[in-house]
Amino acid sequence: MSFDLVFFGGTGDLTWRKLMPALFQAFRHGKLPAGGRILAVARDEQSDEQYRAWLKARFQEVDDAKRPSSEEFDRFAELLHYRRMDLSQPDHYQRLKEWLSERNADTVVLYLATSPHLFPQICEQLGVAGLNTPRVRVVLEKPLGHDLRSAQEINRVVRSVFDENQAFRIDHYLGKPSVQNLAALRFGNALFEPLWRRECIANIQITLAESLGVGTRGDFYDRTGALRDMIQNHALQLLTMVAMEPPSSNDADAIRDEKLKVLRSLKPFTEESVARDVVRGQYRAGMSGGKPVPGYLEETKVPAGSHCETFVALRTEVQNWRWAGVPFYLRTGKRLAARDAEIVVNFRPVPHPIFPGTNRANKLVIKLQPEDGLELHLSAAKGSGQSEALSPVFLDLDFDKAFPTDRVGAYERLLLDAIAGRLNLFVRSDEQEQAWRWVEPVLDAWRKDTTGPRTYAAGSWGPAAASALVARDGFAWFEEE
Ligand code: BG6
Repeated sequence: MSFDLVFFGGTGDLTWRKLMPALFQAFRHGKLPAGGRILAVARDEQSDEQYRAWLKARFQEVDDAKRPSSEEFDRFAELLHYRRMDLSQPDHYQRLKEWLSERNADTVVLYLATSPHLFPQICEQLGVAGLNTPRVRVVLEKPLGHDLRSAQEINRVVRSVFDENQAFRIDHYLGKPSVQNLAALRFGNALFEPLWRRECIANIQITLAESLGVGTRGDFYDRTGALRDMIQNHALQLLTMVAMEPPSSNDADAIRDEKLKVLRSLKPFTEESVARDVVRGQYRAGMSGGKPVPGYLEETKVPAGSHCETFVALRTEVQNWRWAGVPFYLRTGKRLAARDAEIVVNFRPVPHPIFPGTNRANKLVIKLQPEDGLELHLSAAKGSGQSEALSPVFLDLDFDKAFPTDRVGAYERLLLDAIAGRLNLFVRSDEQEQAWRWVEPVLDAWRKDTTGPRTYAAGSWGPAAASALVARDGFAWFEEE
């Protein structure tokens, strides 16, 4: 199958930091279908050779494991081409079309790695130029909109030009191997499904913690905040994967229909429940990795007195028969104690404890990063005597060790899926809009509340109120137990 993969924003950060290294990995692993071209377009005037040299230099800043040797880069670079394109010029889209028709590849993937405010304009122009035939797919990077209205507007334009099944909305968390393993665990094994319900599960926690601050992205971040940046998309997508009903097949729409049902079942927020069930925080100066680090308000390009949240913890429920009454706690933040992303399923304790000592409930920990694996927490007897208290033991599955050669990173997986036309791991417009609908009352309540976010020290686990939120139900965050 021949393909042309076009990056709009070909000289942007996303392209050289994430997309090109991911493609290079696919190339190195022999997974990139033969007969492909990678085309970058951006404003600057440069030749293929200049672009390749520029990218080769950028690759020096990429992680060692993903960096090509000079010889590997030269082989990869044979696939790379560059054209100048001014996205505001209709005739430049015609030129792109002519360029693509020189080869007439089976599949054309147009990846919009530009600022999202350009998406409607780019899509309209692609439509005018006739670059929306069935062999064309468009990949849209987040953030897709700023609120429900802007997301609907982007989707309206995208749908007026492309069919829904030509639109690949990226949420890179769906490409993480552990997320695919969550689906495999639930629907490829009979063991857990009978337990995966309110009768057996006490609560579910989803933590997406980062140790880094906002870095040089202060201006973007300040317009966005943690709720829009991480909860509306990544955390909610993980929640849908945990809570969804078994789909009738592994087809994209069968899966996305079930995910949408979960989003529609989320308990809606009111002004009162936002005050009670949502905690927002902003980091102050503290220590990270043993070094002093500035607070959010001291970061570059952050406006003085900003109320932007760099931390969110919230409690919600999925209002259906399977999950009624089970709290789902979501939490994310910058400059937290560790880079740690995990889903913790806390099972109920045994109904009638007969062993002395602590009655520990079972847990299933699905680790997304830094490692990627599953940990099942059980209780066991050492065999030291009649009145022995049980000890905690773990069944620990490390996927990097279990599958040492076949690991595929999130962007690599999603790019390969976009080329192959597999939509399973991409977000449908109705899911995305429903997620906005659910977070909007929180945004509205915060806009009216002039007290602003609570503070927390960089390097901590966030404001104390986040612990209180969980403690109120008689539970604790995973790391506090
Ligand atoms: C992005 C957010 O979507 O995800 C960033 O915009 C965040 O703020 C990043 O740092 C986290 O991704 P990962 O894969 O490093 O956990």
